[in-house]
Amino acid sequence: MKRIIAPSLLAADFSRIGEETQRAIESGADWLHLDVMDGHFVDNISFGPAIIDAINRSSDIYLDVHLMISRPDHYLPRFIDAGANMITVHTESEHNVANTLERIREAGCDAGLAINPATSLDDALPYLDQIDMLLCMTVVPGFGGQSFMHEVMPKIEEAVRIREQRGLNFQIQVDGGIDASTAVPATQAGANVLVAGSSTFCAPDMAAAIEAIRTA
Ligand code: DX5
Ligand code: ZN
Repeated sequence: MKRIIAPSLLAADFSRIGEETQRAIESGADWLHLDVMDGHFVDNISFGPAIIDAINRSSDIYLDVHLMISRPDHYLPRFIDAGANMITVHTESEHNVANTLERIREAGCDAGLAINPATSLDDALPYLDQIDMLLCMTVVPGFGGQSFMHEVMPKIEEAVRIREQRGLNFQIQVDGGIDASTAVPATQAGANVLVAGSSTFCAPDMAAAIEAIRTA
């Protein structure tokens, strides 16, 4: 599967969100990863649909929205209206997962399903035929700049085996602690969508950082 690099806006300078989005695009980003945190599902608050709507109106980049919120089902229409292209929800949130995924696709968006490092792949198995992407978190969600958890790699390898067995074609995303060195085990395990916050936005040369992850 094609390797996709998705810089996470969480590591950008929030006083210049428009310019930071432009900088990511000019540096070769394939997608822009947007981390929505509600201060309840995770211990941090980031931004919501108004910011995503503003980014959508000022650029054409594919918007990969990662909902780290307790009630994704309740807020879904607002993120759809804001222009999300992919909406990823967690199995650990309080919602009917099958129903939420169905609504995402009905709205014409791609559907992603995320599992935390401590969550077994078993929890995602009932939904694999309903998703375009499986997100295997490689840090405990909530903050950028944490260390990549190598112990998640067997879960990715297992997801690849099951995808093959069932004849499915969802992409596999990793998120947390990705840079040019951790991209190696992640892609070897079978991930093809790489989210990278600090290692791209905080790099002295963002284009070089993205290229290094792409060719790692
Ligand atoms: C973590 C977020 C990540 C975060 C990654 O809760 O879901 O997307 O921005 O940041 P880095 O790449 O710095 O680990
Ligand atoms: Zn994320």
